[in-house]
Amino acid sequence: MTDRINQTLRGPRYGALLLWAWLSLFVGAVCAEAPRTPVPPAAAIASAHPLATTAGFDILAAGGNAFDAAVAVSAALAVVEPYSSGIGGGGFWLLHRAADGFETMLDGRERAPLAATRTMYLDAKGEVVPDLSMDGALAAGIPGEPAALAHLAEKYGRLPLSQSLAPAIRYAREGFVVDEYYRRLAEFRLDALNKSSEAAQIFLNKGKLPELGYRVLQPDLAVTLEALAREGHAGFYSGEVAKRLIKGVRAAGGIWTAKDLEDYRVVEREPIRGEYHGINITTAAPPSSGGVVLVTMLNILAGYDLAALDDVTRTHVIVEAMRRAYRDRADYLGDPDFVSMPIARLTHPFYAEGLRASIRLDRATPSTDLPGAQPAVDGPHTTHFSILDSEGNRVAATLSINYPFGAAMVVPGTGVLLNDEMDDFSAKPGVPNAYGLVGAEANAIAPGKRMLSSMTPTFMETADRVAILGTPGGSRIISMLLLGGLEFAAGEAPQAWVTRPRFHHQYLPDVIQFEPGAFDALVQEDLNALGHKLSEQSSSYGNMQAVLWEKATGKVDAASDPRGVGSAEVRGVVVPQMLAR
Ligand code: GLY
Repeated sequence: MTDRINQTLRGPRYGALLLWAWLSLFVGAVCAEAPRTPVPPAAAIASAHPLATTAGFDILAAGGNAFDAAVAVSAALAVVEPYSSGIGGGGFWLLHRAADGFETMLDGRERAPLAATRTMYLDAKGEVVPDLSMDGALAAGIPGEPAALAHLAEKYGRLPLSQSLAPAIRYAREGFVVDEYYRRLAEFRLDALNKSSEAAQIFLNKGKLPELGYRVLQPDLAVTLEALAREGHAGFYSGEVAKRLIKGVRAAGGIWTAKDLEDYRVVEREPIRGEYHGINITTAAPPSSGGVVLVTMLNILAGYDLAALDDVTRTHVIVEAMRRAYRDRADYLGDPDFVSMPIARLTHPFYAEGLRASIRLDRATPSTDLPGAQPAVDGPHTTHFSILDSEGNRVAATLSINYPFGAAMVVPGTGVLLNDEMDDFSAKPGVPNAYGLVGAEANAIAPGKRMLSSMTPTFMETADRVAILGTPGGSRIISMLLLGGLEFAAGEAPQAWVTRPRFHHQYLPDVIQFEPGAFDALVQEDLNALGHKLSEQSSSYGNMQAVLWEKATGKVDAASDPRGVGSAEVRGVVVPQMLAR
């Protein structure tokens, strides 16, 4: 028997067996050494409205990837959160493609109309006319969101645009229900909404604040979204929709032309990158100021062991970092297609070292001791969502129409609620303000220029953990990202990033704004003693949406800011790999 076995082993089959064993060992060794790219065990979506989160998961379940889901979530938010974003607005979509690690930022920011001038919001005496850049057709930039959605679906998605837009079209036609959050923002813009009969008819109930449970129907918006679904970019920027937009805007005193719409293009921009205590930061590039300011603040703070500092000193150095980084925002930043910016210098650790050296631990630096311009303050309303799919693709997107309900004007026959993003330009550049400081030239109005933003969709990544986060909140967006990011750096879970009481300093006014509950009486006293002025806000702010993937443990987590009505979910939606591009 043994002989037979030996015989067999020595024959031709013995050679084949040896070869097989050797190959197995070789392949095994190679596989053991090759770093395996982990994939998440589940997908996660955090957005500012439950219907938008559901739309995203529906698209993932239909075989879409994170980019298709981003189209669905963006469009759904445009319908059910009309006070925050819309296809009459714009935004930034930060993308990470898992297959090759490629990262880009889709810049779908609005542009100034070609007929815009730098003095268009000033009266004959050169004074800013109140509300001209806030309410009505003249306040609106050329929308970028429809172009961005078409681009996202076509270049990065797996499903047709029509499929990813379907949930939003359904929400527009079947309506959504008014909640307390909607009522608060509609009340804030009640007078402005009543100035546009179309806006009042859609978003109010006979000119009054709609009651809880009232159903908002947007049939014209459904038809416009269908044109986009059918024809892509051209469905919005040319043809019947474009004609109606131009006619309606011009009839209401606006200056849009057909060429404005024809010329609109999404731009893909290289994200801003930084590093903080071993965490790689990927964040928004200009025309957002957010990424540059965030990285500058983190570079300054990298020189401190924050965990070892007491509460007061920790808050003090964070505020001093905010003060210095926000100062640069107004001085240097604008549309990269129009303005040359010292981005490499501003985001360099050496530059931050110099800023850090000017921070004293024993007293606050008065902002007037730092040379600089008066920072522009962006509108407070906007939205954010974060997505991770089960392949590891990621999207962080912050979208806006600026003020709640944008310009509060709906273009007749389109359902398109106009943005008032023109207010994000510096309306009066080069003219000293009340503090004797000069406003931002880099962000002056010019035809076709994109206005400076604070929107800061961000990824933070270590070898073990990936964070996808962002929030609305005007100029306070960037300081919220800093505080959320520091929570991530401290190993906290997303619930802590989105919940933590917030504080903010933006160089001028020289005051720490803080949410109720952010500082106890003792901390307030000690900050005052250091020379800080404090201003407790009457209400909370921000609406952060965050996703965490712990690559080491395989855990996926998500959280939606308790200040809003959003929803964050983790679901085991597995995208079929065979469908992968
Ligand atoms: N409109 C808000 C922002 O762009 O930052």
